Amino acid sequence: MLSKIATSALLIGASAAAAAPARVYTTVVATVTVDPAVAAAAAAPTTSKVAPPAPVVPSVVFSSVPAVPVVSSVVAPVVPPVVPSVLPSKVSSKVSSAVPSAVPSAVPSGAPGTPAPVGGGSGSISVTPHDVYGSSIGVLGCHVNVNRIAYWPTFPGCDNLCKKVTSNGRSVYILHIDQSGGAHDISYDAWNYLNSGSSATENPTMGGGIPATWEDADMDNCKDIIKTPDGKLPLSAANSMNTWAGCPAGSYVHENSSLWNVLNPNACTFGYNERCTIDLAVSNQASCPHVLGANNALTGVPVENIQYGKSSKVTALQ
Ligand SMILES: *[C@@H]1O[C@H](CO)[C@@H](O)[C@H](O)[C@H]1NC(C)=O
Repeated sequence: MLSKIATSALLIGASAAAAAPARVYTTVVATVTVDPAVAAAAAAPTTSKVAPPAPVVPSVVFSSVPAVPVVSSVVAPVVPPVVPSVLPSKVSSKVSSAVPSAVPSAVPSGAPGTPAPVGGGSGSISVTPHDVYGSSIGVLGCHVNVNRIAYWPTFPGCDNLCKKVTSNGRSVYILHIDQSGGAHDISYDAWNYLNSGSSATENPTMGGGIPATWEDADMDNCKDIIKTPDGKLPLSAANSMNTWAGCPAGSYVHENSSLWNVLNPNACTFGYNERCTIDLAVSNQASCPHVLGANNALTGVPVENIQYGKSSKVTALQ
């Protein structure tokens, strides 16, 4: 439902780092004091071997415990924490009504003329509205359309993040970047569209689960949800190393993510709105223009959530 159970549950240890006040699921930050063994393991998949890990950022620290349950094919997770909630600057309902999903090039189709689902996954569900953005894998809400997110019972994988959900003859493409407490929650605005045919900003409705079907879709269908200039999935450099390094080379997340020096993905109010780079062969920590994990106040890249039952938006604080 509207809760953020999942997200908060996944938040790993709230450390002292992020100065986030009030919310229960405060964010945590970073980290990086790496256990050489872990670092090496993490680097293994991507590079032949890792040079001696060079822990650099003092302010950050990460535990050697793989916090993120990643996909089986994944290697060793390296870093931990993630944070809380929000919405990007655009809210328009980007409905994908009749847009035919791209035909998966690698997947043989079944019935003639019927593009097979990319990841093969599909099913019938009851979709419920989720009003506060969150991402258990640390995707920055300020650089994605928080109105098109999937909060699924399963943990986001390294591939197949794009889901097509259909109900009442309408469809929406949503990005699976958070795990719910068991329900198939989708952004309130996406739910509102399926439920009423309108964006919540125009005609906010309320209700519970509505019967729907879902299927894996080609990432091309979710491209518009990602707002970064280069289209890369924006991750928190300080909090999403496990997500990135845990996904094998060749996977969507590993190949098409970008690391940003923003501490709290759900609000983007701490850190710097800048891109970082990383080379596991050199270090298991991202290299950013400013110190990695900086927790200074950040403004200008708000995450805005449409209030449930209302058309107004509220800027996420943390
Ligand atoms: C990364 O994104 C590009 C551009 O959308 C796409 O062509 C490529 O297949 C993606 N890579 C993976 C591994 O999904």
